[in-house]
Amino acid sequence: MEALLCRSIGDPTVPIADPSSPLTISLSHPVPDLQSPTSVRVRVRATSLNYANYLQILGKYQEKPPLPFVPGSDYSGVVDVVGSSVSRFRPGDRVCSFASLGSFAEFIVADEKDLFLVPDGCDLVAAGALPVAFGTSHVALVHRAGLSPGKVLLVLGAAGGVGLSAVQIGKVCGAIVIAVARGAEKVRFLESLGIDHVVDLNTGSIIENVKKFLKTRNLKGVDVLYDPVGGKPMKDSMKLLNWGAHILVIGFASGEVPVIPANIALVKNWTIHGLYWGSYKIHRPNVLEDSTNELLSWLAKGLITINISHAYNLSQANLAFSAIKERKVIGKVMIVFDDSTGARSKL
Ligand SMILES: NC(=O)c1ccc[n+]([C@@H]2O[C@H](COP(=O)([O-])OP(=O)(O)OC[C@H]3O[C@@H](n4cnc5c(N)ncnc54)[C@H](OP(=O)(O)O)[C@@H]3O)[C@@H](O)[C@H]2O)c1
Repeated sequence: MEALLCRSIGDPTVPIADPSSPLTISLSHPVPDLQSPTSVRVRVRATSLNYANYLQILGKYQEKPPLPFVPGSDYSGVVDVVGSSVSRFRPGDRVCSFASLGSFAEFIVADEKDLFLVPDGCDLVAAGALPVAFGTSHVALVHRAGLSPGKVLLVLGAAGGVGLSAVQIGKVCGAIVIAVARGAEKVRFLESLGIDHVVDLNTGSIIENVKKFLKTRNLKGVDVLYDPVGGKPMKDSMKLLNWGAHILVIGFASGEVPVIPANIALVKNWTIHGLYWGSYKIHRPNVLEDSTNELLSWLAKGLITINISHAYNLSQANLAFSAIKERKVIGKVMIVFDDSTGARSKL
């Protein structure tokens, strides 16, 4: 089968044909066998790129698998073969799931307990982008911060993978949502979703801009801060937080880990949540299962949508990583299999 192999640590945006690329396409990678009676083999239809996949190949992610490895985490596809004890799935079912590695390949094997049926009417490619990005934001906002109607949510990196899911989940929860992104195209897109207020980082300071908005709505400050960026945007955003606010530490796309002063957290009764979604699979698998099922039901009802701004085939994976590196992505970038439907770049 076709699979993308990471054979060394390096820059995944280098063209794959270039000898300095850490990536290579294997056309004869072994098709994975079922590992137990409850195993299911899935023919992958689409797999999403997450910032973590990019960091992992750069050698900058907390989980460092031994080389060589097939990268990839969340995916969707069609059940190919099932083990003798599998009761919930049969060949042909449309499913999605997430793995710690291995979805940048034509086939992947999972245990049936880790698979989710994609509801009728949901686009299968889009479903491959749901588990990690939307899952992270759902667990953070709903399970950890208990976001409720009327609360003010501030989302940094709001046009990115996790950010765009957070603004949508915020609206589903009835929150007043403020989105922060850089550049007119991202801002226009966020405004088209009916977000309460959008800040363009290119045109001024978060603090003044958000304070002005809060004043027009007679609001005191921000109740929940969702931060996948860190750096200066996070530092500025802390000046906007209410007494009793929740800070969701999601990631550091800016490359700068923020410092949250404990003395101010004490005086203002802030709750700081470090959130590593993938570790819920080990420590709280039921939370992940309930969360993914709820998100799939929201997707089926049209309460959330998945915006795919870029899609490529496997041999163009370096372009997919470039889209993330160059901050071009609005929502998600996908690797799509099945040439008959013509996976294509929207760059
Ligand atoms: N904790 C968890 O379990 C978990 C789960 C998923 C992701 N994450 C983390 O969340 C972060 C975002 O992931 P993602 O998949 O949403 O990535 P993404 O789609 O690339 O979005 C990242 C956003 O961050 C903003 N950004 C600000 N400074 C940046 C910089 N120097 N380089 C790149 N982007 C920058 C960009 O927005 P503007 O261009 O508009 O500023 C971009 O839209 C990553 O650090 C990732 O590891 C954590």
